[in-house]
Amino acid sequence: MTVGKQREVPFFNYPALFERQRTEIMACLEDVLSRGAYILQKDLEQFEDTLKSYLGVKYAFGVADGTNALILALRAAGIGQGDEVILASHTYIATAASVHFAGATPVLAECGPDHMLDPGDIEHRITLKTRAIMPTQLNGRTCDMDVIERIADQNGLLIIEDSAQALGSRYKGKYAGTFGKAGTFSLYPAKLLGCFGDGGVVVTNDDDMGRKLFLLRDHGRDENGEVVAWGTNSRLDNMQAAVLNLKMKSFNQDLARRREIADMYHEALKDIDDITLPPELDSDGDHFDVYQNYELEAGQRDSLREFLTDRGIRTIIQWAGKAVHQFKNLGFENVCLPVTDAFFKRCFLLPMHTALSDEDVGYVCQTIREFY
Ligand SMILES: Cc1ncc(COP(=O)(O)O)c(C=O)c1O
Repeated sequence: MTVGKQREVPFFNYPALFERQRTEIMACLEDVLSRGAYILQKDLEQFEDTLKSYLGVKYAFGVADGTNALILALRAAGIGQGDEVILASHTYIATAASVHFAGATPVLAECGPDHMLDPGDIEHRITLKTRAIMPTQLNGRTCDMDVIERIADQNGLLIIEDSAQALGSRYKGKYAGTFGKAGTFSLYPAKLLGCFGDGGVVVTNDDDMGRKLFLLRDHGRDENGEVVAWGTNSRLDNMQAAVLNLKMKSFNQDLARRREIADMYHEALKDIDDITLPPELDSDGDHFDVYQNYELEAGQRDSLREFLTDRGIRTIIQWAGKAVHQFKNLGFENVCLPVTDAFFKRCFLLPMHTALSDEDVGYVCQTIREFY
């Protein structure tokens, strides 16, 4: 017997998140507008400084979006035509597309049981052309970077981290985005730290990369406006940075709430045989997961999702339901990734954001249990 639709639980809730901070946000926007401070202004500098000290890195640049952050990172690292870059097929198309737009070739690998790039599937894909490994720090978790760093070291490869989904996530105490030659983040509105439109950040500890990224994101101009290299226009808007400065104040609390919700999901669903849950909160001492997404697997996924939709609960499958190699016309017709294929028949995301109440989470769990 079903309970009927007791409440609506949207997958994400932008209006609710805005309402929570309406007064501060409107004051912040008014302040920026009345100063006429739009491009490369102090709010952006402040945001970049805050991120530098939060992550413990030397350089941080606010750029147009997470995709451009990846393209700039690859370009600054000198990756281009004739090069190959290894990445997981379970990632956003932007990871692979950034390699393509840098002029190189994306080489796709399997995901492991924790949904992340499987370190065991990297080495046999290395060729004489391989220049870099690009792990996606997916769902707010950081890959097992010890293994990936060892493979990169032994084969003379760079690491460029796509940490679009992992600001604040840590592995052995070190933040996602700070392991490789460069790390990138997305500030898309639904991200862990989201602005009101597109935005991204690229970080590095490398002086040469830092200089190149500084020039690349602003037309190749140096501090005096002199063009000293080819560059592009990829600057995070100052108004977005001002909002992000405001949001940074409660960022750690927001992450704590996501971790709390993940724990509630885990406790309520862990005994359902048909369901495989993502790694449990603090299940080992190495990972500090911040749950950008709560991605789980279910044998009866499609009928379960339908049952939830009928009861007002919205779920999604990442990347419109397809791993990168499953999209047509991108040149991956001969790529064979059976583990990822099997995963994509089972995976989906439950609602995960800081406007969820305990009652919302309880209703989601109760409805899933009712299905089984
Ligand atoms: C794993 C991953 N990489 C890259 C991106 C691209 O970021 P953006 O949408 O800011 O360009 C995203 C955003 O969804 C992402 O989730």
